[in-house]
Amino acid sequence: MTELNKKIVLKSRPATRPDDSNFEYREEQTAELTDGMLLIKVDLLGIDAFIRTTLNEGSFHRGAEIGGVIPALGVGVVLESKADSFAAGDHVFGPLCSQTHAVMPAFTMKKIDTSVAPASAYLGALGLTTGLTAYFGIVDVGQVKPGDTVVVSGAAGAVGSVAGQIARLSGASKVIGIAGGAHKSKFLVDELKFDAAIDYKNENVAARLDELAPDGINVFFDNVGGDILDDVLMRIVEGSRIVICGGISQYENMDDVRGPKNYLKLAERRARMEGFAVFHFAEHYARAEKSLADWLRSGELVVREQIEQGVENFPAVMNLLMTGGHYGKLLLKV
Ligand SMILES: NC(=O)c1ccc[n+]([C@@H]2O[C@H](COP(=O)([O-])OP(=O)(O)OC[C@H]3O[C@@H](n4cnc5c(N)ncnc54)[C@H](OP(=O)(O)O)[C@@H]3O)[C@@H](O)[C@H]2O)c1
Repeated sequence: MTELNKKIVLKSRPATRPDDSNFEYREEQTAELTDGMLLIKVDLLGIDAFIRTTLNEGSFHRGAEIGGVIPALGVGVVLESKADSFAAGDHVFGPLCSQTHAVMPAFTMKKIDTSVAPASAYLGALGLTTGLTAYFGIVDVGQVKPGDTVVVSGAAGAVGSVAGQIARLSGASKVIGIAGGAHKSKFLVDELKFDAAIDYKNENVAARLDELAPDGINVFFDNVGGDILDDVLMRIVEGSRIVICGGISQYENMDDVRGPKNYLKLAERRARMEGFAVFHFAEHYARAEKSLADWLRSGELVVREQIEQGVENFPAVMNLLMTGGHYGKLLLKV
């Protein structure tokens, strides 16, 4: 069996913000399956910040090749299987990339149970790059404990929105989110039950942190880097934990990443700054999945999904992510 695959490929590497000239839409028939391979109809792709870094030469994540599809995690359904462990009709998760049909080695795919949660949740709430990342950043790296004041940047996005809620569920006495726009502040406080929010596009972050966290900040879960990281560093206390989850303010200029100016505060406050990648916690995934599933079921964890349409819109939806044009988990239905 073969299928017509509609896909977006990388035409050239963007120097800063990607535009239409960097991508090309193509259609081609999928290859006949060989042993150990699966033909998968892609349903949803997770539009994640890491995708932007894969467009750069020498990316930390496996980079996109010129003329190749763009890395993205997705969920889909097996149409044909030449592997014993999978059958047509299985729902699967894996690195399906910017296309409607994928021919994948079976060992790269994982079965998902859509009777436990909808397929989209395996990219968002229960997903590697969203729920699990937020969980390990808050619980294992940040070690949030009762009474902590926790600040999260990129707070209205996928990882940040879950991280702030896990901080509350871990006993933090105050959770402050930083995001762009008054509408996002309202979303954080009204829908996700953050204690307070700072609109970094229209408010003075330093002054608002002084107002909202007069006794200082115990844990900072950082998705953004740049000026926001420096503002928080000036307000850490004895034993603070700074969790470097990401630094999206730097992703469109990776040849000249700006480090924190106020890092000496770490020494003054005997504080710790620690980065992590979710796959460093691979042996603990089951623990995180269980907690996330329990919180989802009990309604204590809320994950807003925004679903855009059409594989041909992959580049535009990626730009939507980079410019903050979404709430919670951004997905693309191909
Ligand atoms: N360590 C890991 O293993 C791991 C795994 C997954 C993700 N991550 C990191 O987690 C972070 C969030 O990723 P995500 O996929 O969940 O994306 P996301 O938060 O859903 O979307 C990115 C958000 O970043 C904000 N943003 C963009 N440019 C900004 C800037 N210059 N200053 C401040 N905010 C900016 C935008 O929100 P506003 O509207 O608020 O500007 C946008 O909504 C990224 O840094 C990513 O690299 C790390």
